[in-house]
Amino acid sequence: MASIRAFSGVQPTGRLHLGNLLGALRQWVAHQHTRENVFCVVDLHALTIPEKVDPAQLRDASRRVAATYLAAGIDPAVSRVFIQSHIREHAELAWVLTCVTPLGWLERMTQFKSKSEGRETVGHGLLAYPVLQAADILLYDTHVVPVGEDQKQHIELTRDLAIRFNHLFGDTFVVPELTLPPAGARVMGLDDPTAKMSKSIAVDRPNHAVFLDDAPKKAAKKIMRAVTDSGCDYNPSTASAGVVNLMGILGACTGEAIDDIAARFEGQGYGYLKKEVADAVVAELEPIQARLAEYLDDPAALDAVLTPSTEAVRAIAQDTMARVRAAVGIG
Ligand code: TYM
Repeated sequence: MASIRAFSGVQPTGRLHLGNLLGALRQWVAHQHTRENVFCVVDLHALTIPEKVDPAQLRDASRRVAATYLAAGIDPAVSRVFIQSHIREHAELAWVLTCVTPLGWLERMTQFKSKSEGRETVGHGLLAYPVLQAADILLYDTHVVPVGEDQKQHIELTRDLAIRFNHLFGDTFVVPELTLPPAGARVMGLDDPTAKMSKSIAVDRPNHAVFLDDAPKKAAKKIMRAVTDSGCDYNPSTASAGVVNLMGILGACTGEAIDDIAARFEGQGYGYLKKEVADAVVAELEPIQARLAEYLDDPAALDAVLTPSTEAVRAIAQDTMARVRAAVGIG
């Protein structure tokens, strides 16, 4: 059987949090031995809000995200890890795809609408963001894209673009599928469980997210302070959003079904649930933090993964780009 190739990525735009771990990294790790894996740090995407770019920090942030992939359990023996801007074909393919993207497809993206809201200037890059994401995915003949739920619309757009391009220029791209984790696909903010846990919100709201590099005590404290309600309802269909979120986090960490968690805590105060969630999250974070510290202390060990990975994925990207150039008549 031909192997299944997975591609996914994270933006180096802030500290990685529990949502990134449970929504994305854990499913990458869980399936890496049955797939071919390409995991990218998408630094070109980090330029789409230029006001927030700190050039002195961006390169370091990209390396730190790559190190976090490895610390979370990505095994370089079976998975490639690289930084997007090191492979020039991403930008080239993004341009070719831009030319086949109807404007209306981009204008209706919910992430574009929410990210552009209230901004004095909205850059073209923010609108074109999902086209670059499609280029990332299509460049590697990707079959599956393991991501959190918030990326669903972007993966749909990628599929639509692949189909449109294939229709206009002949069969060139594999049409990829989205994959979501069984639990943890949408982790909500601890301080506001009606909003998705997000790197950008977490910048000014200290209790919004547990960061993967939070000290265990700090992580536990944030969970103990999570917003719930004044009642005692664990029924997943009637409980408050905060309680459902905490049960979801616990289930994603331990594999226990939500209904079983709800039945176990029935009649107990939320403090018991929070304590268990805090213990489960700390148990997830501790080994990641230990391995991250090792990679950060030893840049050569990180380079020893990034350099051969980059060369290996470059070969795939160059092949695809040669096909694309031939299809459209350039190069
Ligand atoms: P980013 O950097 O916002 O998030 C990285 C991954 O984490 C998931 N995620 C979550 N999952 C569950 N609950 C949450 N609260 C939560 N917050 C984030 C995201 O779904 C994602 O899987 N556009 C992408 C980056 C990207 C990409 C790609 C992804 C660029 N090119 C190609 C896949 C394939 C993004 O902004 O992810």
